[in-house]
Amino acid sequence: MNQVKIINVYRKYGLKIVKGYMQYVWDDKGNKYLDCHTNYGAAFLGHCNPKIVKPIVEQLNKLMMIPYSINNDARDKVLKDLSKILPKKLSYVFFQSTGTEAVEAALKFSRKASKKKKIIAFENAFHGRTMGSLSVTWKPKYREPYQPLIPRVVFARFNNVEDVDKVVDEETAAVIVEPIQGEGGINVATREFL
Ligand SMILES: Cc1ncc(COP(=O)(O)O)c(C=O)c1O
Repeated sequence: MNQVKIINVYRKYGLKIVKGYMQYVWDDKGNKYLDCHTNYGAAFLGHCNPKIVKPIVEQLNKLMMIPYSINNDARDKVLKDLSKILPKKLSYVFFQSTGTEAVEAALKFSRKASKKKKIIAFENAFHGRTMGSLSVTWKPKYREPYQPLIPRVVFARFNNVEDVDKVVDEETAAVIVEPIQGEGGINVATREFL
């Protein structure tokens, strides 16, 4: 049999994890681990957290998916809940499945709304692996094999206000910044810089 394998783009640790509960995961030999990785933070509220699993299962048993152009009660509830916690001036949202899609959408919205092309990103930033997100991601080893990417991206130094003043101008469509850089080494943006 031709055993199909996943493309070799990730380093392998020789570990097989078969289940998880909240902050712990178990391997195929029954060893228990504290999960400090949580799939790059995606499962940071815990594995199999009953508060997450229950509503998801309820929804899956009720309605699998429905396009944006058709109204839906579950989406209405999320919008209502978000309205309670978001600052007043943030009055529109756009639901996406992944981080990189959210970045793609933000880049597109900024271009369309501003009719400008220049985008400011920061050294050591990570915004995802699709072509747009990659264009605003710093590490050359991620970006270079896929060039040419989106043009007119300028990288400024993170937490350097003078740099930002120098590069943001009349042609700038967007500035994209992580409040805390993850991949870049857990660098916290100062209030003044943000
Ligand atoms: C700051 C930041 N933005 C975007 C992404 C991309 O998110 P996703 O992996 O969900 O596409 C990541 C992923 O690690 C991230 O750390």
